[in-house]
Amino acid sequence: MTKIPFSPVDLIREAFHYQSRFDGSTMVFKIDFPVTEDPAFSYLMKDLALLARIGFRVVIVPGAKERIDAVLREYRIVSQYQKETRITTAKAIPFVEMAAFDVATRFITGLSANRVDAVIGNFVRARGLGVCEGLDMEHTGTVDRIRTESIERVIKLGMVPILPCIGWSPSGKPYNVPSDEIALAASGALGAVKLFIISVSEGLRTGAYAVPKHLEVDSADRIVRLTPQEAEAILETNVFLQGLGAQDQALQELRLALQASQAGVERVHIIDGREEGAVLRELFSNLGVGTMVYADEYEAIRPLKTADIPGILRLMEPLVRQGNLVRRTAEQIQEKLADYVVFAIDGSVHACGALHYWGEGQAEIAAVATDPGYTDIGLGRRIVRCLIERAVKQELHRVFVLTTHTHDWFESLGFTECSVESLPECRRKVYDHKRRSKIFALDL
Ligand SMILES: CC(C)(COP(=O)(O)OP(=O)(O)OC[C@H]1O[C@@H](n2cnc3c(N)ncnc32)[C@H](O)[C@@H]1OP(=O)(O)O)[C@@H](O)C(=O)NCCC(=O)NCCS
Repeated sequence: MTKIPFSPVDLIREAFHYQSRFDGSTMVFKIDFPVTEDPAFSYLMKDLALLARIGFRVVIVPGAKERIDAVLREYRIVSQYQKETRITTAKAIPFVEMAAFDVATRFITGLSANRVDAVIGNFVRARGLGVCEGLDMEHTGTVDRIRTESIERVIKLGMVPILPCIGWSPSGKPYNVPSDEIALAASGALGAVKLFIISVSEGLRTGAYAVPKHLEVDSADRIVRLTPQEAEAILETNVFLQGLGAQDQALQELRLALQASQAGVERVHIIDGREEGAVLRELFSNLGVGTMVYADEYEAIRPLKTADIPGILRLMEPLVRQGNLVRRTAEQIQEKLADYVVFAIDGSVHACGALHYWGEGQAEIAAVATDPGYTDIGLGRRIVRCLIERAVKQELHRVFVLTTHTHDWFESLGFTECSVESLPECRRKVYDHKRRSKIFALDL
């Protein structure tokens, strides 16, 4: 289950952590037309304006499909399709441009309301698709090149570039280009660290698609994160085996996310634009609200580093005060550095544990703690499992734990109660009889 961090101070800490991590980075936002009609759109604009003001390089690619459909309908222009691609005729292109700029202008309006300057520009050089399977695609085009130098100039002036779904040939001929393609090309050309795909889709939910069971889902059953390999496997299963086609929005978005991550975008976030604050939550908290496809190392259980020590002391402090954990100093932790493992997300520690060897083939699992904002999502169990695997690798025959409050939890992990006498001699000698911890052990 996804949880938000436990206190406003922690939220602020996380926000600063991410702000310094991504400051000066380029982020591309591909936002579908229906989002502009939702009440949450004004909040989205407020949030993007905020990001632009604090130093993120925001680039907007508005999708205009539904608006183009409506305008063409209004002017009684019937579109022909080649497979799923609309053939934009010479008669249709002025109306397509009108719709595309109408949508782009909504972003100008939204940003203006938040005192951020923006420019709709001819940032896409396009070329025509030509003749496909005997059909002249006329003004339907593809990205030839993203004019990064112009975009860079605009960003340097402190403005937000907006790339409507129109591109122009070197001779000035307009083409209708899919916004997905523009977002993908712009992300690659500008070296974006993030691409946001924002629509009004419910997203990738486990009930609706065949997905591997091990993937983490949120309280709405939406997949929280995926590697590109997992994304590829889901596409393969659902598109090829289950026959869900190009019309399926969540799969289309997943495909775009996969392509972007294969093109080098570190993280792609697919979010529902109707959720107020979704971009900020996805950006500034470790546990976002959408689906993220990540190509880089995101989270892992790994050995403790010296730089993590302040983080685990902070994590342990309230648990020490509650009497759940024994107090440890930074020096004591440093001395046993190699015994510890941590679960870190983006460099901040959210769970820890240690395995101390006491001789006689036995080791103690200790200092197991989970950040209160991240409990009940299996982190504690993963830490204990990792420590048990370590003990198995070291060919130990037993792990044990001394606990005052958590015996039920260890019992649920297969540990059983035993006596002080069963402890290795070295540990028995330093057993604190006043603390009266219970001893639980697991034979390996
Ligand atoms: C015990 C602790 C590590 C569990 O962390 P966690 O990451 O939430 O653990 P998991 O997500 O793997 O497991 C959560 C499950 O255990 C249950 N649980 C948590 N603490 C429990 C306890 N003290 N007794 C019994 N069950 C407990 C939860 O209700 C949850 O149950 P569910 O899966 O049925 O919903 C965490 O609560 C903690 O830091 N406690 C304080 C420190 C401590 O006592 N450490 C042990 C001393 S070495």
